[in-house]
Parts: sequence; C-alpha cells; structure tokens
Amino acid sequence: MVKVEICVGSHCSLVGALNILDTLEELQEEYPEQIEINRVECLDMCGDIKNAPVVKVDDDLITSAQTQMVISKVMERIK
Ligand code: FES
Repeated sequence: MVKVEICVGSHCSLVGALNILDTLEELQEEYPEQIEINRVECLDMCGDIKNAPVVKVDDDLITSAQTQMVISKVMERIK
C-alpha cells in the first residue's frame, strides 16, 4: 500500500495541487487496494512558495511537485 499525502492548503492549491489530486484519484480507481490518498491542509513547507505544491509519497517529500513525477513515484512503489 502506497500512502500519499497531498497538501490541498491554499498555497499548494493555487499552484496546481488539485490537478495532481485529480490524476491521483484516477490512478487510485485503477489500484484501489494499493493507493491511499490523504488530503492535508498544510505540510508546513510553503513558507517559501517555490516549494508548493507539496506531496508526500510514503516518506518521500516532493516539493514543487508536478503530476508526472508524483505518478511515477507512486507507480514505482506499486510495481
Ligand atoms: S499550503 Fe501546502 S505546504 Fe502549506
């Protein structure tokens, strides 16, 4: 089971977190037993806005996250 924490706080949402979340949810539909998604309000990394959006895949913290890199990290852990 891959645990994903995605920040949906205001800073991260402004710079695309919800797009990442949409794609993650689509992936989760394909692998419902293997992906857990938790939305969190702030991972305390947005003091520097360049860090947003912030996503954690298990213990791996991804700053300036982009959809493709998050999906790749999740897929690496599923396969
Ligand atoms: S709003 Fe995302 S880390 Fe603060």
